[in-house]
Amino acid sequence: MSTPRRVRVRALAKLNLDLRVLGKRSDGYHELRTVFQTISLADTIEMAFTPGRKTAIELDDALAIPDNLVGRAAKLALGAIHGAGRVEIRLTKRIPMGAGLGGGSSDAAAVLLALPVLAGRHIGLPQLGELAQQLGSDVAFFLLGGTAVGIGRGSELFPLPDGPAQAALVVAPGVHVSTPQAYRDLSPRLTSESQQNKIFSFQSQVWGGGVERLPRNDFEEVVFPQHPSLADIKRRLLRAGASVALMTGSGSAVFGLYPDRNRISVALQSLGAGKAFPVSFVTRSRYRRMWWRALEEHIIGRTWPPQSRYAR
Ligand code: C5P
Repeated sequence: MSTPRRVRVRALAKLNLDLRVLGKRSDGYHELRTVFQTISLADTIEMAFTPGRKTAIELDDALAIPDNLVGRAAKLALGAIHGAGRVEIRLTKRIPMGAGLGGGSSDAAAVLLALPVLAGRHIGLPQLGELAQQLGSDVAFFLLGGTAVGIGRGSELFPLPDGPAQAALVVAPGVHVSTPQAYRDLSPRLTSESQQNKIFSFQSQVWGGGVERLPRNDFEEVVFPQHPSLADIKRRLLRAGASVALMTGSGSAVFGLYPDRNRISVALQSLGAGKAFPVSFVTRSRYRRMWWRALEEHIIGRTWPPQSRYAR
């Protein structure tokens, strides 16, 4: 009987620092331009793998999330390495669900990254990226972390250089926004003319050179009228001194960027409803260090992190 190999990892949340929806594609998804950023808010995943002849995936998740992506990720990862055995996963959720913070996607990516290592096998980044896309559009970003531009469905990624430490306040008001519904509501408003403008203004936002430095999230225009409390949170974050306040993903969480932690303490006092999380940005180099430390004892050779021609 083999002994289980164990690992404990943190699955970080993300913010969309900018998000523009261009138009509907022939595959039914929407073409995006976005900037992803990992933040210090995280779920915890404890995982044990015991090699064996049969595969059994046991998920201990206090919230009993239906059709949890974590179980599907474990199945995909084992399939990719032609491995079998018992996988025990305990998930401790801290990232609010249905809030646009990418918690489910990050948990799934964490399993894709960790399980092959526990099984003593290596999956290259291109294949991991394909598995990630099968699980959801945001999953691939968490293979990389830090700051990255996402295009296509959001899974084609271009890493941006690490920026300075940035403090942020994330407010999750407990409003559930359905992502497919948000896309359906936004879709009729998307015209080819506005696509040209969006591409231009996104590029000047990300790479500078243009006059515009105004981040935006296109989902605000359909989600805020349905949930006016979210627009109110955005106003309060700005009044409390945020340099930028924006909804993340298709909502419902709204975040504000602040120059330091003191400003965040003041902002916290002025916000009534909802759960508020003071966080900081996690750069790609910190993200990689975090992963390296978590997996170090199981890594054979220098096969981790999975390398990409774009990653630094
Ligand atoms: O990829 P994911 O499963 O996270 O997407 C959930 C839903 O959001 C999709 O079924 C689709 O309706 C919508 N979506 C989209 N375009 C994207 C990402 C998601 O239309 N780029």
